Amino acid sequence: MKGILLNGYGESLDLLEYKTDLPVPKPIKSQVLIKIHSTSINPLDNVMRKGYASSIVDLKLKLPIILGRECSGEIVEIGDSVWDYEIGDQVWSASPPFSMGSHCEYITVDESEISLKPKNLTHQQSASIPFASLTAWNAIYNVLPTNKKITTNTKILVNGGNGSVGFFILQLLKKHLNVNQVSTTCNIKHFEKLKKLTLVNETIDYNNLKINDNDNNKFDLIFNCYDGGKNQNENEKKCIDALKDGGNLIGFNGPLVKFSDKDGVLSGLPMGMMNQLNSSERIKKQYSKNVHLDYAIFSPSGSTLKQISKLYENNILIPNIDKQFNLNQIKDAYTCFENSNSNGKIIINNKF
Ligand SMILES: NC(=O)c1ccc[n+]([C@@H]2O[C@H](COP(=O)([O-])OP(=O)(O)OC[C@H]3O[C@@H](n4cnc5c(N)ncnc54)[C@H](OP(=O)(O)O)[C@@H]3O)[C@@H](O)[C@H]2O)c1
Repeated sequence: MKGILLNGYGESLDLLEYKTDLPVPKPIKSQVLIKIHSTSINPLDNVMRKGYASSIVDLKLKLPIILGRECSGEIVEIGDSVWDYEIGDQVWSASPPFSMGSHCEYITVDESEISLKPKNLTHQQSASIPFASLTAWNAIYNVLPTNKKITTNTKILVNGGNGSVGFFILQLLKKHLNVNQVSTTCNIKHFEKLKKLTLVNETIDYNNLKINDNDNNKFDLIFNCYDGGKNQNENEKKCIDALKDGGNLIGFNGPLVKFSDKDGVLSGLPMGMMNQLNSSERIKKQYSKNVHLDYAIFSPSGSTLKQISKLYENNILIPNIDKQFNLNQIKDAYTCFENSNSNGKIIINNKF
């Protein structure tokens, strides 16, 4: 089959090799074999190719590896103990970083990690959704303490609402959970688009780094969907300032992987865990403010994908894709991603 091998970790796109003679994987037990119509590039792919999470990936896989965390396609073979799916089913899936990826023509995935894709979306549209939406779903439904669950009156800011995770969160908050007052930061050129497509109440220019003085101490909850780039402290401070005392901050770039990559899994992972558990204490000391910081992560789930699929089929949510490339144009796709003037997900298509 065709596929993109990552032969080594580093900045150079030449470490990515387009191959046409890779073996097609065989589904075993509860796995299905998916013929991939479309896949995508997530920020995780772009940092993984440079070595991020290699300490964890190396435990299960050896280079060369295939990147790509999500796909939409058709089941063409099933393992002996697959019960819920059959050949010909049109499905979507997202898988964790320590499994072989989807930047190729065929992938084996456990049936617990897939669902039927939304019938009203193309494969290209469907491939833009699973990884970010499952991460966002965890942030909204599983991370907040039970006494802090979102109500229609929770005042919420989504920092970075034009990204894949932020765009899904905005839509879910406004169009499904009917939250009254939701704000977002984004590039000024995305103001009108986000208001129209997500129904967000207020758009704030993230280049006005301080938000507005009026916005300080205003929000009950912030989803911080921007990692801060080179200004992580500044980005964190901006969120803390904007939260009410007693508010909740949910981040998507916890310290676990960073510690593990730096010090190795054995000592790095426990240190990262301690660091994560002490996040709220650190915030209290650093900013003299009582803010609870939690981190949301992606976790695969076919049953959640099924619920998400219904939200698209019922036209409550809409996809947000930008440029499309063929598999053999992967380097152009990453270049486009890096230069990121993109306005939605970058999709990679297979031509069979
Ligand atoms: N832990 C996990 O399991 C997990 C899973 C998925 C994602 N993530 C992380 O979650 C984050 C969001 O992922 P994604 O897929 O949504 O990324 P994305 O699509 O690349 O979106 C990132 C967004 O950040 C915005 N941004 C740029 N500069 C900003 C600034 N100064 N202030 C505020 N926002 C700014 C951009 O807005 P404009 O488009 O308006 O320029 C862009 O829309 C990433 O850091 C990713 O690594 C973590």
